[in-house]
Amino acid sequence: KKVVLAYSGGLDTSIILKWLQDTYNCEVVTFTADLGQGEELEPARKKAEMFGVKEIFIEDLREDFVRDYVFPMFRANALYEGVYLLGTAIARPLIAKRQIEIAHAVGADAVCHGATGKGNDQVRFELGYYGLDPEITVIAPWREWDLNSRTKLIDYAEKHQIPVAKDKRGESPFSVDANLLHTSSEGKLLEDPWEESPEYVYNRIVSPEEAPDKATYIEVEFEKGDAVAIDGVKMSPATLLTKLNELGGANGIGRLDLLENRFVGMKSRGIYETPGGTILLTAHRGIESTTLDRGAMHLKDELMPKYAELIYNGFWFSPEREMLQALIDKSQENVCGTVRLKLYKGGVHLVGRKSPESLYSMEHVTFEEDEVYDQRDAEGFIKLNALRLRLLNQRGKSKISP
Ligand code: ARG
Ligand code: SIN
Repeated sequence: KKVVLAYSGGLDTSIILKWLQDTYNCEVVTFTADLGQGEELEPARKKAEMFGVKEIFIEDLREDFVRDYVFPMFRANALYEGVYLLGTAIARPLIAKRQIEIAHAVGADAVCHGATGKGNDQVRFELGYYGLDPEITVIAPWREWDLNSRTKLIDYAEKHQIPVAKDKRGESPFSVDANLLHTSSEGKLLEDPWEESPEYVYNRIVSPEEAPDKATYIEVEFEKGDAVAIDGVKMSPATLLTKLNELGGANGIGRLDLLENRFVGMKSRGIYETPGGTILLTAHRGIESTTLDRGAMHLKDELMPKYAELIYNGFWFSPEREMLQALIDKSQENVCGTVRLKLYKGGVHLVGRKSPESLYSMEHVTFEEDEVYDQRDAEGFIKLNALRLRLLNQRGKSKISP
């Protein structure tokens, strides 16, 4: 028996590591990914060695994450329940995929994750596992053990000499998930949705009040729907998102306090910080508005909530997500050009756009004299559109309130 554990090096997964060894008496292989969470990975290696782990996988997946997951999702302008940029949801399929690949490489028959039995992440990990290996055994300690509260968990850690990190208040920390796209915090005093989140919950975005009093202007360039350069400097996907994160974080952009519907049926409240992603969404919508045909744009806007829900619910590796992706990617063929953005005290404002593939025609839209558009055509256009409204009115059934 061999199991591949998604190991962050943090408290919960360290307890899981020990618990797996004791409960299942199995060999544990650890997998730690750098998804841009901004933590050192070497301590995770040290800790795994301390627990006697022989096969330790530590991988920098930042470019894969942004290029193959974040960017494809941003082509859709995906938002869950109108506001959530899906920072946790989009990272899970990649972790699941690497875990399964590692399991196959080391001859493991099981995989294990540290998500609770109450949340979305268990679903996302496991739909990924089963979708990529139908025969895999899944171990979800949170659904099995009796360490069913943070207090019991911390007692267990102390009993087994597992170091417990304290947050700045000297309390046990929030439930935090971080990667290059976002940081989310849940639990503890955030569980009262009426309580405003204290400042210390935020880790990567200054409060808008603290942001500079002077606006920052940037230009973002796109090719086929993906951002490729900032202020004329070409960058790899992960480098570009890192740069947008710095700009957003410094200008107070991308904070979100959300009470959302989890897939399992309950509502939960979280604090999200998505600095670069918030800028990227505005930038991408700006270049789309310049280059996308109306029919294409409105269709993808209609499909977007469905696509976002698939990602939220963990169906990244599903035929319907791939079908929608093909449609979205097709729409991006001519989405290129440059937008200019003004970043100021929590706001990201699109102030300029240009594109070699622009469909904007000043000749047509101008309020001045033109030679391309015959205003008399509009009369028939309106008359035929009005025909049914007039017939309805004549029948006397149209009820128009003043
Ligand atoms: N509620 C968010 C989601 O389902 C984040 C979940 C993980 N975050 C955390 N702080 N444990 O995508
Ligand atoms: C968890 O339950 O492990 C975190 C929250 C979630 O997955 O929704």
